[in-house]
Amino acid sequence: MAKVKHDMELRPNPRTGRYRLISANWKMNLNHLEAIQAIQKLNFLLRPADYSYAEISIHPPFTDLRPLQLLIDSDRMRISLGAQNCHFETSGAYTGEISAPMLAKLNVTHVIVGHSERRQYFCESDEIVRAKVEAVFRSQMTPIICVGESRDEREKGLTEDRLRSQVDAAVSFLAPELAERCVIAYEPIWAIGSGVSAKPEDAHQGAVAIRSVFEALWGNDVANKVRIQYGGSVHPTNAADFMELDDIDGLLVGSAALDPESFARIIQA
Ligand code: PGA
Repeated sequence: MAKVKHDMELRPNPRTGRYRLISANWKMNLNHLEAIQAIQKLNFLLRPADYSYAEISIHPPFTDLRPLQLLIDSDRMRISLGAQNCHFETSGAYTGEISAPMLAKLNVTHVIVGHSERRQYFCESDEIVRAKVEAVFRSQMTPIICVGESRDEREKGLTEDRLRSQVDAAVSFLAPELAERCVIAYEPIWAIGSGVSAKPEDAHQGAVAIRSVFEALWGNDVANKVRIQYGGSVHPTNAADFMELDDIDGLLVGSAALDPESFARIIQA
């Protein structure tokens, strides 16, 4: 089972045995002063029961990581620190990039890899995503690997093929003890930032396709340990519809996670 921070308090989902993970992807929002305020407010709003229900990771911009690390440590917050991206090399002549060991040194525990915005705007190929997954594991962190189909692919009936090929490309090289620690975020591209989420049955079908890749590669045991998040226009009013599904172990939340009150309501939903 995935190693999680604060495992004393965190309880697995009794139906699945997996630890839930609810993550906030702040994208390119909130400077370090705004980030400090947001996380203090979130910590004030969350109750011990929320931290037992799910591990909570916040993925701010790189410039917020150090101040948030200091705050989380000094106030003993039970929030896990995450990043939105990293480079696949450890160090070197890669102007403007941040490596996985640099993030690990800041107590970052989770790194989003292959978000559709990175695939689309920064030309991240399946090969790059794969190399980043490897880099995240080399630094003993957990990758949150994003996969999802475009509207066009969905309309052509290619959703499951697309998901299977993205997952296979990102994880097939892993040893089983690392494969089972992966988190996969199923984020239909058409649902991201659109205000219209997938239907719970679509999320279920996506999760089944994703888990089937792990089953084909490593068998049931590994497949049953992998955690799958849903992401794409998650709000306080629809969060519970996804969290009720046995296949869905958590959420990756964008715009609704920028406001601490709305993110707390998602966790408490
Ligand atoms: P959204 O973004 O919640 O704003 O749709 C989700 C994401 O991109 O991870």
